[in-house]
Amino acid sequence: MTALYQVHGDVALISLSNPPVNGLGYATRRALTEAMARGNADTSVRAIVITGAGKAFSGGADIKEFGSPKALQEPNLHSVILMVENSAKPVVAAIHGVCMGGGLELSLGCHYRIAAPGCSVALPEVKLGLLPGAGGTQRLPRALGVEPALNMIVSGESVKSELLAMLPGQKLFDKMAASAESLEQEALAFARSVADVRPLPLVRNLPCKHPQGDAYFQFARNMVNGMAKNFPAPAKCVDAVQAATQKKFEDGMAFERELFINLMWTSESRALRHLFMAERAASKIPDVPEDTPKRAIQSIAVIGAGTMGGGIAMNFLNAGIPVKMLEMKQEALDRGLATIRKNYESQVKKGKLKADKYEQRMSLLTTTLSYDDLRDADMVIEAVFEEMGVKEAVFKELDRVMKAGAILASNTSTLDVNKIAAFTKRPQDVIGTHFFSPANIMKLLEVVRGEKTAKDVLATVMALAKKIKKTAVVSGVCDGFIGNRMIEQYGRQGGFLLDEGCTPQQVDRAIEKFGFAMGPFRMGDLAGNDIGWAIRKRRYQEKPNMKYSKTADLLCEKGRFGQKTSAGWYDYQAGKREPIPNQEVIQMIEAHRASLGIKPRNISDEEIVQRLVFSLVNEGAHILDEGIAARAGDIDMVYLTGYGFPIHRGGPMNYANEVGLFNVVQAMNRFAQNPLDDAQFWQPAPLLAKLVAEGKTF
Ligand code: NAI
Repeated sequence: MTALYQVHGDVALISLSNPPVNGLGYATRRALTEAMARGNADTSVRAIVITGAGKAFSGGADIKEFGSPKALQEPNLHSVILMVENSAKPVVAAIHGVCMGGGLELSLGCHYRIAAPGCSVALPEVKLGLLPGAGGTQRLPRALGVEPALNMIVSGESVKSELLAMLPGQKLFDKMAASAESLEQEALAFARSVADVRPLPLVRNLPCKHPQGDAYFQFARNMVNGMAKNFPAPAKCVDAVQAATQKKFEDGMAFERELFINLMWTSESRALRHLFMAERAASKIPDVPEDTPKRAIQSIAVIGAGTMGGGIAMNFLNAGIPVKMLEMKQEALDRGLATIRKNYESQVKKGKLKADKYEQRMSLLTTTLSYDDLRDADMVIEAVFEEMGVKEAVFKELDRVMKAGAILASNTSTLDVNKIAAFTKRPQDVIGTHFFSPANIMKLLEVVRGEKTAKDVLATVMALAKKIKKTAVVSGVCDGFIGNRMIEQYGRQGGFLLDEGCTPQQVDRAIEKFGFAMGPFRMGDLAGNDIGWAIRKRRYQEKPNMKYSKTADLLCEKGRFGQKTSAGWYDYQAGKREPIPNQEVIQMIEAHRASLGIKPRNISDEEIVQRLVFSLVNEGAHILDEGIAARAGDIDMVYLTGYGFPIHRGGPMNYANEVGLFNVVQAMNRFAQNPLDDAQFWQPAPLLAKLVAEGKTF
């Protein structure tokens, strides 16, 4: 049942009933039109109320229909709204909980609206690179006033019903109900009171003007263009609302439709819709059903109070979960504690955190030097030095003291989680939780599933990730997991580009113009070039045939580790993060190039971007092939939330789809011809080759 029909005396009550938020999918739309027809045909009915069953009026489009032909199947939302508008009997929308997107547009087609306080009202389409496409840009300005309507449409943010009701002259709500509980009764009574009023009031007939007219829209456009950067939709929202003030209603509707369809076809909107779906999909694990029972996690222990341990602890403190931190020495604990305090204090200073909240969070944190104090914790996260011997000692201790059923997690970034699990007699309880630095800020969490990790452990950690507001992506065990395994290839390309003729600035500038938050050399300086150096030294042993540029090693030999030494690929002034090009580094690169007998060539920005991005794509395809990641969308989530990949490009795999996999492979074949590059690496991953042969996408 997707809409319920009841008659209360002389008023019909239609309740949308499509949990969780009464999305306006095909079946719901049909049920609504059938109920509307029934109400109009029923001679005992004088007026109709439309409301939503459960906790929402309607959240708008049904995401299950997203992008499918069903979304447009008649009766589409336009036809439904038209039918409501044309109803011979008055229709009252009774709004509560959530009234968003198509839900708000539907209510704007009703003759009257009565709202409960506390309802979230929004037109969020812009967040998917679109604009409201069922009259929202034409009706909301008429009902609410041009400025507040434009603000809502351009931002996509929700506003509480009681605030909207206070706007002077607003006609969005004819009445506010006393509460959500009394809404239905009040709406029925209201419907009765207007049952005989004719003509029926229509939002489309309301005037729509802004006193400053075109000047106002010019200001709005300037403002929006400054903020929207790579996204076309916000500016189109301004155009659509301006049209509402200039055109006849029907012409404005046609204009809105045209803009909507054009935006649907932009790569930016496709990227945002991909992101929206990928984010939801990432929490689904093919062989771990959503109803898998979860272990209760009411307290956490963290081993190691260094850079990562402190940040990891803050996540749980912020979520109200008590944390006990263990170190080997009191000084290390004191240092870790001081860093956490400093972090919170700077948030308080900036007004981002209330002082009492800060105290409350700190009161959840305790410290210890003894493993025996950890035995009651439901989960422990290890963040000690990245050495197998140290991890072994720690996990043996944890195996000894932790209670049965406790989850044992490692924050290792490169070590084999299966080996770590084997140090214990309970490998089923061991998992990797790979946080990104700074761990209290970065959204991404790679959840590393060991060979023996139990399903309920995985399900528990995924749910916990949501609680601490992380975007969790499951990765299988491999060197570097998803993100760092791919970034190694990207870094290798960066090195080759220097050897062949680029400067670090040129490479960084090109990829930043493409939209990355930071190019590879600025990123190296931020993360510490010594980390990559340590990994390469290991690689030289493990994979002696793998080709690397030696330039980064030369840089590290000079002690230029990056921001922490105020010198890396660039120079840094104390306390500042702006990179300043350094002539010595340029000369070092040139001298090394000369020693290899390479004549520098001019390398286009296009080549730089393609080599960097397609290296991610090919390694990503291997990762999919090997089942390390379950979906291409998971890889995109890793890159969008952890590595500053441009949002409007939707992640490396989505970007490759946009470019066309055939074209990607053509470019890779060209790169393989370059004797200074790594021909072996540019062999397309089997999955990539297969998709091209079948004309498919990731
Ligand atoms: P860190 O050197 O800042 O902190 C490590 C802390 O562990 C130190 O305070 C040390 O005193 C303590 N420690 C060492 N051995 C111990 C033991 N046996 N028992 C108790 N405490 C011990 O290191 P960081 O950067 O916090 O890294 C920790 C882990 O997180 C490593 O596995 C690293 O690979 C991983 N990681 C680091 C990232 C980063 O950007 N720094 C990012 C993601 C993961």
